[in-house]
Amino acid sequence: MCYAIPGKVVAIDDKVVTVEYFDEKKKARNDFYADLAVGEYIYAQGGFVVQRIAEEEAANILKTWQELFTKLKEVDLRLTREPKGLYQVANATRQRSLGNSCCIHGIIEFSNYCRSNCLYCGIRKDNVNLKRYRMDVDEIVEACEYAVKELKFKALVLQSGEDLWYSQEKLVDIVEKVMRKCPVLLIVSIGERDSELYKKLYASGARGALVRFETSNPKLYQKYRPGHTLDERLTLIKELREIGYLVFTGFLLGLPGQSEKDILKDIELTQSLKPEMFTFGPLIPHPDTPLKDVPVPPLEAVLNTIARARILHPDSRILVTTALETLDKEEGAQRGFLSGANSLMVNLTPKKYQSLYQIYPERAGTELDTKQKIEKVLQLLTTIGRAPTDLGM
Ligand code: 5AD
Ligand code: SF4
Repeated sequence: MCYAIPGKVVAIDDKVVTVEYFDEKKKARNDFYADLAVGEYIYAQGGFVVQRIAEEEAANILKTWQELFTKLKEVDLRLTREPKGLYQVANATRQRSLGNSCCIHGIIEFSNYCRSNCLYCGIRKDNVNLKRYRMDVDEIVEACEYAVKELKFKALVLQSGEDLWYSQEKLVDIVEKVMRKCPVLLIVSIGERDSELYKKLYASGARGALVRFETSNPKLYQKYRPGHTLDERLTLIKELREIGYLVFTGFLLGLPGQSEKDILKDIELTQSLKPEMFTFGPLIPHPDTPLKDVPVPPLEAVLNTIARARILHPDSRILVTTALETLDKEEGAQRGFLSGANSLMVNLTPKKYQSLYQIYPERAGTELDTKQKIEKVLQLLTTIGRAPTDLGM
């Protein structure tokens, strides 16, 4: 099993193409291939055409998918029949509005330097106990090439702390090189940088931006992100949308002082920003931060939030975060999917750096090598009947 299914282009209307996956049709935006023609096979991710694929190769991949595709749908349907309780109702809502499509993205964490000092985060500037690392431009491009060409990922998140060592020039260089050598849906997650920089990265081919607003409560925001305001954050997120980025945003669950009402507002704010992906995860205390003694939110609290968000917003993409997987390494991901989530990220950071990107300790997956991780994800998707077809625009 592979984690993206090729689709056939069956219609083109300027930049919008209709793509057929077996009996399903989805739309995708074509920004990168001006000469794309009806009849060609492509990979789409996040509603964008990201790669072309030769007909013969596509036919071979589709052959292996044909039977499995139907089987996965049956499994998903079976699991959503006669829903009982909040999680099952949320899962059935997801099935009715989006079918069994799910997105599997890779994430490469390229620097753990950060100029900010968020009270909850292990890579905050003042944590002097952490060994810092930066991958240079070529190392990042190589890691992306490996992820796309060898591991066959179609969407990659490039994440770091707010590290100004990566100038506009360096970041543009990275995005241009990746898009030239191994086209992919590139999502940047580099924190609060100016909108000019984000515009340049978009022009170079990046199409997604991941920026959480962390909490919808302005007082909590200022307390836990000293020196920053929620307004500044929201302005940036809205600017990213205006530039054209697919926006991935959300919040942290378990900040001290966060009330039930705050969480409902967090869900509402997420939706009002009209993101392409909801990402909210539990705060896991890091021993070298001021929030080291905060209790870990129970798994049920996270599942409950996923389920409520799904029921309130049936068409959203909701991520199973690594923090959720960390809360329950055996079942966290599966339970997230069965409570309404439909996306997952696989950590593809080179092994030697993975344990240093320590926003919180003992992250799920760091004990496995990349191939084992992918195997585990594919096994999970098979068990719960999900298929990595693009969700469309
Ligand atoms: N636990 C869980 N998530 C965290 N983040 C930062 N610190 C923690 C923590 N201790 C999240 C923030 C940030 C993202 C990159 O990581 O929400 O936006
Ligand atoms: Fe830096 Fe982000 Fe961590 Fe805040 S949450 S300290 S901005 S990496």
